[in-house]
Parts: sequence; C-alpha cells; structure tokens
Amino acid sequence: MGFVVAIDGPAGSGKGTVTKLVAEKRNLVSIDTGAMYRCVALYLYRNNINLNEIEKIEKCLDEIKIEFKFVENGSSIYLNGEDVSREIRKQEISLLVSPASKIQCIRDRLTIMQREIAQDKNVIMEGRDIGTVVFPNADVKIYLDATPEERAKRRFNQNIANGIDGGSYEEILNAIIERDYRDSHREIAPLKQAEDAIYLDSTNLSIEEVVEEIIKLIDLKKKEN
Ligand code: DC
Repeated sequence: MGFVVAIDGPAGSGKGTVTKLVAEKRNLVSIDTGAMYRCVALYLYRNNINLNEIEKIEKCLDEIKIEFKFVENGSSIYLNGEDVSREIRKQEISLLVSPASKIQCIRDRLTIMQREIAQDKNVIMEGRDIGTVVFPNADVKIYLDATPEERAKRRFNQNIANGIDGGSYEEILNAIIERDYRDSHREIAPLKQAEDAIYLDSTNLSIEEVVEEIIKLIDLKKKEN
C-alpha cells in the first residue's frame, strides 16, 4: 500500500478542488470516488436497471470497468473504455447516484476497486467514507466541512460561472440541508468524521489556506514515517 490521504466531507466543502491542488503539489494520484459512484449510476441508467433489481445490479457490477486517465491539469474517468467525465455530471445521474450509493453491493465493489487503486500508488482520495471504511488506516485523514449557507453560495456561484440553471440560492440551500441529512443518517457508510480525522472548517478559509493546511499535515506525517 502506498501513502494514503483520505479527504471526506459533504458536497460543496471544497474537497474536489483542494484534492486536485494537493495532489499536484505533493505528487499524489487524486481519486474522486464520487465520480466512481456516478459511473455505476450511469451504467444502471443506460441499461434501464432499476434500483430494486439487486440481482441484476450484482451481475452488472462484473461488467463495469472504471479507469482514471491522468492528464496535465486533472483527470478523466472512463466507463468501459468510454470517457464519461461530462456525462456523469448530468442532472439525471446526479439524481440517481444518491439512492444508488446506498446499495450495499455497489459500495462493496467500489470499496474493493478503491483499495486496489492505492495498492501501488500514493493517493489522495476524496469521498464520504474514505477515512472511516475504505482506508481506516490512512496516513492522513481530513474531514473538510463548511456551513450549508457557504456551500450553497459556492454552488450557486459555480452554476452561474458555468452557465448552469441550477435553481435559486434558497433552492440550493434547501437541497443541501436535505442531502446532508440523508447522507449522514443512512445506514450504510454514512457521512461522518472518522474519530482520528482532522476537522477543517473551510467556511472562512480560502482554497489556498485549506491546501496549505493539508500539505503541512502530509509533510509532518512523511517526516514521522
Ligand atoms: O461527490 P459527489 O457528489 O460526486 O458524489 C456522488 C454521490 O456519491 C453522492 O450522493 C454521495 C455518494 N458517495 C458516497 O456515498 N461515497 C463516496 N465515497 C463518494 C460519494
């Protein structure tokens, strides 16, 4: 197993951006596990497989191959050889992925894949259960948070910048509050801070400040090793 940095936290906490920047600065492979859940949701969607058809889902997991390809400033995700990086961000997949991520056989399979990825690489992996379930012995564990209001503001501004009609600030805020509740109250691998994770509140911090903080923790851990 290589060096593992686990970054967990709710949507909009800045995990994605921070993970990519830290990866660049410390030469780590960055893995977005949410994108992996989205690939499974896309496959189910395209094959008209319903979320209550567990046997079919179990079978189709054998047919799913997910790969990351790394380019200079980021990565693309491939589902069975096809670049689906954009496709997995579509509204219908965003709606399907949350209930799909509650299904045990999907979580089990993706957990195995995530552990395999880190077998021979130094990684920074972001998600909801990386420090609690996937890598309970990760070298560095961060729980990145921000207030729902700040996360709604970020998402709202991001939508404007990308020309996406994602609803009003209030609508986004309500959706975030609802999703937080669902994610942290689900039975399987709920979103929660690992006991030994460092809690970072990014509400009043810039991206650079969060990145600096995480890099400090990584460098400290490397010195100890
Ligand atoms: O980070 P994201 O919004 O792209 O994640 C998509 C969905 O996958 C989200 O509903 C939470 C779920 N997810 C999960 O359950 N466990 C992970 N490690 C990563 C994501």
